[in-house]
Amino acid sequence: PALAIEPHPARVSDADRADRIADPGFGRIFTDHMASAVWNTEQGWHDARITPRVPLQIDPATSVLHYAQEIFEGMKAYRTADGAMALFRPQENARRFNASARRMAMPEIPEALFLEAVRQVVATDADWFPGVPGGALYIRPFMFSSDVRLGVRPASEYRFLVIVSPVGNYFRGDPTAIKLWVSRNYVRAAPGGTGEAKCGGNYAGSLVAQAEAIERGCDQVVYLDAIERKWVEELGGMNLFFVMDDGTLVTPPLGGTILPGITRDSLITIARDEGLTVREERYGIDQWRADAASGRLVESFACGTAAVVTPVGEVRDGDSVFTIGSGGPGQLTQRLRQRLVDIQYGRAPDRHNWVESI
Ligand code: PLP
Ligand code: COI
Repeated sequence: PALAIEPHPARVSDADRADRIADPGFGRIFTDHMASAVWNTEQGWHDARITPRVPLQIDPATSVLHYAQEIFEGMKAYRTADGAMALFRPQENARRFNASARRMAMPEIPEALFLEAVRQVVATDADWFPGVPGGALYIRPFMFSSDVRLGVRPASEYRFLVIVSPVGNYFRGDPTAIKLWVSRNYVRAAPGGTGEAKCGGNYAGSLVAQAEAIERGCDQVVYLDAIERKWVEELGGMNLFFVMDDGTLVTPPLGGTILPGITRDSLITIARDEGLTVREERYGIDQWRADAASGRLVESFACGTAAVVTPVGEVRDGDSVFTIGSGGPGQLTQRLRQRLVDIQYGRAPDRHNWVESI
């Protein structure tokens, strides 16, 4: 279903655009257009279109501003070796978006509409692709309740939008390995909560812990389970993997409190394709520290759309610190990262049909 396109009266000039994408950072600049659609109880999804990217006008009583009924996705358009652009497993983002919608009592969106909105807005703003190393168009589909009403109940109107941000590296200064802060004061998600949904509230609740991490000189928070405060779950915006000295990979199992990362799933597949053993099993913070000290654990890395695959160099837990391996990027981490980006950039065979050119 093609979306209606509203012509843009005044796109950013070529010179201005070139200037903005020269050093994009992450999520700081945005393209000219957006996709949008509306859902209400009478008409379902309707009014899908590509329009100039403009500020939204919303009433102060709009329900999302009060009760945070909001979900989002994060995905990237990559430049492939043949000069075209491609999405990576976009259908998985559409599915996860609808899983988040169900958890937040929001209407599901037809996958075809989600995917077409993404493809069309990216195609429309293709000239915003940043030429920097690791550059991509970061795509942010999201949906929020737009009822003007303070009653606490599912809304009768929702808005779906897709905006696009030219991005470089997620971590400022492109660190070779990141430092993690173990959150002892705050948990991210509890069983039965919203941990496996990609809803804005999960991120709002993580900011105070992230501020603590920054204060202690770390880049990201590592969260422990809410019940025993013992099992390593994930980071504020990334999943985690552990590499053992026998080449085995361990990653925490999905169980409702962890975001089912598409990068996580892809890396499990890539590793198994290579003949590596991957175990989805619980791994304790004390075990992590002990294994890092004894050398049984040799590498750890974070992964996600924004972070790709990022080595973990150090873990700070209160006043104690432990180092992973040499504190820098590990060999297997680098190899898996390379395998993944080679597929994303169309440089390696796409055995699982993950890459969809635009
Ligand atoms: N965990 C959290 C909390 C995230 O925000 C993200 C990023 O989307 C991920 C994990 C990784 O998910 P994905 O690989 O699908 O980007
Ligand atoms: C993503 O990787 O897409 C995320 O949503 C993570 C966020 C920290 C930007």
